[in-house]
Amino acid sequence: MEKRIKLGVFGFGCVGQGLYNVLLQTKGINAEIKKICIKHPEKKRPIDARFFTTSRADILDDPEIDVVVELIDEVDAAFEIVSESLKKKKAVVSANKKMIAENFEALLRLQHEYNTPFLYEASCCASIPVIRNLEEYYDNDLLTSVEGILNGSTNYILTHIFEHGQAFDAALKKAQELGFAESDPSLDVRALDPKYKLLIILVHAFGIILKPDDIFNYGIQNLKEADIRYAWEKDATIKLIAKCRKAGNKVFAYCMPRFVPLKDTLNKVNNEYNGLLIEGAFSEHQFFMGKGAGGNPTGSAVLSDISALTYQYRYEYKKIHQKLDYDFSQDIALELYVSYNGAVKPDTGEFDSISVRHEAPGFNYLIGKINLSRLKQCSWLGDNSVNIVLTENNF
Ligand SMILES: NC(=O)c1ccc[n+]([C@@H]2O[C@H](COP(=O)([O-])OP(=O)(O)OC[C@H]3O[C@@H](n4cnc5c(N)ncnc54)[C@H](OP(=O)(O)O)[C@@H]3O)[C@@H](O)[C@H]2O)c1
Repeated sequence: MEKRIKLGVFGFGCVGQGLYNVLLQTKGINAEIKKICIKHPEKKRPIDARFFTTSRADILDDPEIDVVVELIDEVDAAFEIVSESLKKKKAVVSANKKMIAENFEALLRLQHEYNTPFLYEASCCASIPVIRNLEEYYDNDLLTSVEGILNGSTNYILTHIFEHGQAFDAALKKAQELGFAESDPSLDVRALDPKYKLLIILVHAFGIILKPDDIFNYGIQNLKEADIRYAWEKDATIKLIAKCRKAGNKVFAYCMPRFVPLKDTLNKVNNEYNGLLIEGAFSEHQFFMGKGAGGNPTGSAVLSDISALTYQYRYEYKKIHQKLDYDFSQDIALELYVSYNGAVKPDTGEFDSISVRHEAPGFNYLIGKINLSRLKQCSWLGDNSVNIVLTENNF
């Protein structure tokens, strides 16, 4: 008879409880949770106390536990848990994009050195199967671009601002209550969370391993009433877009808000949903949409990884091994809308060209082209009274 897999789970928050629910209702998988390690033993839990421990060793040193599932919201502790598990040859499943993006090279080495699989489908778009598709399905197609809405909580906020006229802070509070936001919501709002996901996608799409500082990110923290009105006037909304694209042997990547025309496919992606457009030389355009946050949707992706381990699945990192020889580059001109309503103004000398300049009491903006590598250095970008949004005319 097939062996029943015993799981040791770290974390019983939104995703940990989602995994518990999903596992309980999934008959097709021969797995059970043996122990759950949490941080605060005094918290009231919805399931039997015998599951819980605060000792990592109760999982890591238990020879009966085959698979470690890491679902905590701390980065350093998560990296220690995952490293320790791989060293003990216990397969690991994780949803922790920040930990994975910050430690990618080390995690790759550990998987290789200890010949033990590490799967992390839930880390990218929660319920949408992105990584396995990029690894397996798009193995032979020449991918040209992967772009989309990769952050459920900012998409929820933007949907509620645009469709329901809700204020930013009220929409953020609701996203937090519903379990869509990270424990530290600035990771969402400042576009760090989608950047971590983009870093993981870059490995599986183009075989490029980068560090978080390498990629430019700008969030929705400075979005103003006037920017929203401007978008409506242009028959568009604003979405937070993460994108990587290949041109020749160069690959560009960034994570920024963009005006999205109402008729555009990405405008169908609302609330906590994520949406991903994948473009290949032969498959051409494909679109994936699904829940990008929340306990059960994320838990279902975690369970899919656990199930994949039962048939010895592991990432082969095909794009790395194909030696595609792509170079990461930031030498690309982007067309930006910049609004500025305080004492700080964008330095127009830093732009390659300016096509629109509008100055009126209470609402100033310009539209111009600027090189991404130069944009990263602009001092005015750090001021709260300035906001930038990519126009729809971008590569
Ligand atoms: N929420 C989502 O929709 C979503 C989607 C995709 C990926 N993720 C990722 O999934 C992970 C978990 O997110 P979440 O939303 O479930 O977080 P959460 O609701 O804040 O829960 C975090 C859990 O981790 C436990 N924990 C924290 N530090 C620990 C430590 N050092 N040792 C043991 N347990 C520890 C906490 O214990 P206590 O219960 O004792 O406090 C809690 O149970 C994060 O990496 C997140 O980025 C989340």
